[in-house]
Amino acid sequence: MRYKTRKSTREEFLDNLAPDNQAQLFTLSSAASGCTACGLSKTRNKVVFGEGKPNAPLVFVGEGPGQNEDASGRPFVGRAGELLDQCLAECRMNRSHVYICNIVKCRACLMEFGRVKNRQPAPEEIDSCSDWLAKQLGIIQPMVIVCLGAPAANTLIHANFKITQERGKWFDTSPHCRYISAALHPAYILRQDGPAYLHARQMLVDDIEAARKKVIAARKEPNPALF
Ligand code: URA
Repeated sequence: MRYKTRKSTREEFLDNLAPDNQAQLFTLSSAASGCTACGLSKTRNKVVFGEGKPNAPLVFVGEGPGQNEDASGRPFVGRAGELLDQCLAECRMNRSHVYICNIVKCRACLMEFGRVKNRQPAPEEIDSCSDWLAKQLGIIQPMVIVCLGAPAANTLIHANFKITQERGKWFDTSPHCRYISAALHPAYILRQDGPAYLHARQMLVDDIEAARKKVIAARKEPNPALF
C-alpha cells in the first residue's frame, strides 16, 4: 500500500499547530496515568490514554483496553487492532493519519473460572473517565469521530443507539466534533465466521471510507465559528 507523501499547504499549516496539541496531550496523559477515580485503577497495569495524530481530523473511539492494551499502554494492539489497521489501510490511511482512543482508559475485567476476562465497562466507570475523554477531544478538536461499537456510540451519540440499525448514520449533535457516527467494533467482527465475517469486515471498511470522505466534505463547509 502506498501513501501520499507530499503534504498540502493546509496540512503543513495544521501540522505547525500540532506541537502545542502534542504537549497538551502529553500533559493530560501524564495526569491520567495517576488517575484513581474508579475501581479500574486497582486492577490496571497501564492507563491506555490513546495515540495518533495530535490534531487528527478523524478520531476513532473504542470501548476500552483489553489484555494486550493493558500490558502495552497502547490502544488497539491486539487482534482487533490488527483488523482496524487493515481496514484503515484499505482506505489509504494508517495510524499516523488519525487518533485512536477509548471511552475508558483502563481495562475492565473480571475473574471467571480462575482466569481474568475482559468485561464491558460499567456506567459509573464510563462516567468517571468522561472528563479525560472530553479534555482529550477538546485538545484534538476532530472534525469527525467514529465510535467503534455500541458502548462508545451509547456514550457519545445517544443512550439508545442500536449499532445494527444506526451504524453509518451521521449525527451533528456532538459537542466534541462536527460529525459523529458509529461502526462495528473490530472485536465483534472477529467473532463472526465465513460470509458473516467478510460482510461485517466490509461494513467497517465502508464506514471508515465514509468517515474519510466526511472529513474532506466538512473541510469545504463554512466554519460557523467565523460568522
Ligand atoms: N478494544 C477496544 O475497544 N479498545 C482497545 O483499545 C482494544 C480493544
